[in-house]
Amino acid sequence: MRRIFFFILPILIIVAAGFVVFGMVQARTDEDKLMDELKRKAKAVAESMELSVQAVLEMHNSRNANYLVEKFQTRDRLQGCVIYDAESKIVAITERFADWKDKPKPYLEAVFRDKIPFSGIEKFKDYTVYSYVLPVLREDGSALGSVEIIYDTSYVLGRLGEIWKGISVTLIVLFILIILASVIVLRQMFLLPVLRLTDWFKGFLRGEEAHHRHPLTDKDELGKLANEVEQVALSLRVARRAIVEDAQTQLNKEEVWTENKLRSFIQAKLGTSTMLVVSNREPYMHMADDATGKILCIRPASGVVTAIGPILRALGGTWIAHGAGNADRKFVNSKDKIGVPPEDNRYILRRVWLTKDEEEEYYYGFSNEGLWPLCHITHTRPIFSEKDWDTYQKVNQKFADAVIEELPSGPAFVFIQDYHFTLLPAMIKAKRPDVVVALFWHIPWPNPEVFSVCPYQKQILNGMLACDLIGFHVQYHCNNFLETANRLLECRLNTEKFSIVRGAHETLVRAFPISIALPSPEDVILEKELAKVRKEHKLEGKIVAVGVDRIDYTKGIGERILAVDRFLEKNPEYKKKFVFVQIGAPSRTHIKRYHDLGGEIDELVEKVNWKHSDGDYKPIIYIKRHLSTEEIAPFYALADICIVSSLHDGMNLVAKEYVAAKQDETGVLLLSCFTGAIREFTEAISINPYATEEFADAIRMAVTMSPEEQRRRMAAMRKIVQENNVYRWAGSIVSELSGIRNRDHEKPSA
Ligand code: F6P
Repeated sequence: MRRIFFFILPILIIVAAGFVVFGMVQARTDEDKLMDELKRKAKAVAESMELSVQAVLEMHNSRNANYLVEKFQTRDRLQGCVIYDAESKIVAITERFADWKDKPKPYLEAVFRDKIPFSGIEKFKDYTVYSYVLPVLREDGSALGSVEIIYDTSYVLGRLGEIWKGISVTLIVLFILIILASVIVLRQMFLLPVLRLTDWFKGFLRGEEAHHRHPLTDKDELGKLANEVEQVALSLRVARRAIVEDAQTQLNKEEVWTENKLRSFIQAKLGTSTMLVVSNREPYMHMADDATGKILCIRPASGVVTAIGPILRALGGTWIAHGAGNADRKFVNSKDKIGVPPEDNRYILRRVWLTKDEEEEYYYGFSNEGLWPLCHITHTRPIFSEKDWDTYQKVNQKFADAVIEELPSGPAFVFIQDYHFTLLPAMIKAKRPDVVVALFWHIPWPNPEVFSVCPYQKQILNGMLACDLIGFHVQYHCNNFLETANRLLECRLNTEKFSIVRGAHETLVRAFPISIALPSPEDVILEKELAKVRKEHKLEGKIVAVGVDRIDYTKGIGERILAVDRFLEKNPEYKKKFVFVQIGAPSRTHIKRYHDLGGEIDELVEKVNWKHSDGDYKPIIYIKRHLSTEEIAPFYALADICIVSSLHDGMNLVAKEYVAAKQDETGVLLLSCFTGAIREFTEAISINPYATEEFADAIRMAVTMSPEEQRRRMAAMRKIVQENNVYRWAGSIVSELSGIRNRDHEKPSA
């Protein structure tokens, strides 16, 4: 209320001052006008009496003189008339104005002497009058007498009073209107929006707000303020979680790498520096179901998401990614941000929007028809087009702009994921050379001969080598990369430090075998749940093998089905006893090779099922849709065997997820020798997916493995996952990053 008062007060003062000035000018003008009119009237009356007065004075006819003054006193506002003789003696005076006689009239002398009229304001009793004296002359020009006309001027004052009264009334009405209008305007424009924003802010912090956008639609200053408030709210929500977790960290000082341990480690190593993560795939996608219109928030089937998600949860930083979900825009705030996970905001997801053409040419085109097959040696020809390359550069720049926007002015780290952003490091460094930039390559890196197929090899290497650190899953890929850079670019390899030096810049190349976060022991799948899945898919009493993949030609799904087929051919006693469940998440179906692959797998499943079917028995259950982590979990838990048969894979986290899920230490992992994971899981049964015969025999080996042997192998693999989990992976990277930052600080400034 006080604010409204102080807002309105100056308006009222200004309006009142305006009115006073206006009133004064108006009063002055009116006064002048009325006085002029009065003077004119007095002169006219005097002049109209002149001849008659001349006659009565010449004839000394006082009766006529009296008649004359009485006749004229009826005029409007005329107070009186006086006729004087040549000695200034009164000959006749209006009766009701008789007291005028006694008033001294020094001006009369001048009238007779100079024979010119006199006019002036005179004080008489308690009022002012206007007097006009006209000399009356003989024919020869000598003074005969004079006639004085006296007008009352009080009506002029009365008129001025009316003007001021009118102004005061108008002013009061105006004041009331101004106050009313101001209160309404202030309420509508400021008070209500601020109250709405305040409510939203409180609710959002409490985690009650389903929609992440603030309620104001205004684009004006208030809207801008609301946008800023929205960012602060999101940061607060995320920071609050981190503080709570931090307190818990103090209580638990675990030996194994955990989310808490990683958080403390990062705080110790990086302090308050900001950490930004960039990837193409976002950790949460909002998808509207075409049929029902219902919006689902899904976690995409992606190794990047599986690995980076837990780290960001621990860090509480910002993850910048492509907003690819068809309902994504509905859930971001004015700066395209959303707190995630949706039910428990731990970090910020900043979505970057791409046009259809950009997605087509940068993601499907250059990244997945070009670089993906180039790096995976699976005999699928890479396709490079100039148009795709142009768009790839533009999209990298788009992400660079988003990163620059998010970077604070202080120390920061940018952690880039994968082959979608080979140019991004150089683009960031061009604007912010002070920021430490790291890139993790989640897929294999081929040898120099293979990589040199790429027409844009130099630009890609130049972009990547702006990084301070480049990570691969395995040493073999690091070696390939070092060799590639050495062969294709002017640079120096530091074989001791395992780095590439170009001019004053050094890029460390390191192997960081990626991993997963272990499910907590409380996350054990209930027997009830397992029974439900077994019943639904008729798995009761069967030996179950499972495969979980994106439907991708690198995953060797076809090879796996052929191996199952061969296994059943060679071991018919397992018909009706053995079931293979393939969970396949459709992926990149817009690309012809992936589209065709979908059809090829469908056909193969159909063929093998038909071949080995018996009654209602079918050896292969193909679940072709995206399943959530929670939906996949029972399959891992009940599966006696997990088959990972990638033709080429950077790491393969399905293998690690299966091992992590087997809390009872049962189960057998069949793992392709072309995965990064095989280097850690020496206790898995190694398979060559191209060698169908061996592959089929490996299935038999798994099916017949004793429980003791299973336990021995599984325990060893579980120990590896436990020790080398994703928190340790992140810890090793952070350790390198902090080393780089300290090294940069120690450098003498140029
Ligand atoms: O490591 C390769 C990768 O980027 C992983 O994140 C994931 O396995 C896969 O590709 C995801 O593919 P996309 O993001 O194209 O669906």
